Amino acid sequence: MRSKACIFDLDGVIVDTAKYHYLAWKRLAAELGFEFTEKDNERLKGVSRMESLEILLSIGGIRIDDESKKMALAEKKNNWYVEYISQMTEDEILPGVMDFLNLLKRNGVKIAIGSASKNTMLILERIGLKDFFDVIIDGTKITRAKPDPEVFLKAAEELNVAPEECTVFEDAIAGIEAAKRACMKVVGVGNRETLKDADRVIESFVGQDIELIEW
Ligand code: BG6
Ligand code: MG
Repeated sequence: MRSKACIFDLDGVIVDTAKYHYLAWKRLAAELGFEFTEKDNERLKGVSRMESLEILLSIGGIRIDDESKKMALAEKKNNWYVEYISQMTEDEILPGVMDFLNLLKRNGVKIAIGSASKNTMLILERIGLKDFFDVIIDGTKITRAKPDPEVFLKAAEELNVAPEECTVFEDAIAGIEAAKRACMKVVGVGNRETLKDADRVIESFVGQDIELIEW
C-alpha cells in the first residue's frame, strides 16, 4: 500500500542546518572555555534546544543550576544560529529533495513538516518553501520533544490521515523512535548503521522513486 501522506523532519532531511547549529554551539563552548567537536555535535541531532544545552554543558564539565542562566545561554546560542540561517538560500536544499517532493505532489500524496525546531518558519522562508507544505508542525506547536511521537501525530491529525498511512523521513535516532511510537512507517535519511531501526534507509533523495513509500 502507498502511504497517503509523508512527514518530513527539517534539519538534516530538507536542509543541512546541523553545520549552523554546530558553529553556534561551538562558539558558546569557546566562550565557556572548552572545545566542542563535530563528533560531539552528533549527540545534539534531533534533540531540543534546552536538552542540547544540557549535553553541551556536560561535555564541558560545567554545572549550572540557575534556570535563568541556562535560558540566557540557550538564547545567546540561538541568536548566533539565527544570524547564520538568515543567510541561507534555496541552494541549501539537499540534493534530490525538490524532485522527490514534486513527485509526491504529482501523485496526490500529502506532505508535512514535523520538526522540533522553533526556527522552522524562518528556515522555510529562507529556502522558499514557506507555502509548499500542506501542514507544518514545529517546535512552537508541541510540548514534548522527540522521541515522543507528539509532533508526528499532530501532523497526521491536521493532514486528516491515519498514522498507519503516513511515512516519516528522519535523520535522527530520536526521530525514528518517535515515528515508530506514532505507528508510522519510517525512512532514515543518512548513515545505514546509525539509522538501523528505520524501516528503510536512503543515503539521499537523489533518484528516489514513489516505490520508496510503498509498503
Ligand atoms: C532539531 C535539530 O531539528 O531542532 C536540533 O536537529 C535542534 O539540533 C532542535 O536543537 C531545536 O531547534 P531550534 O532551532 O528550536 O533551536
Ligand atoms: Mg533532523
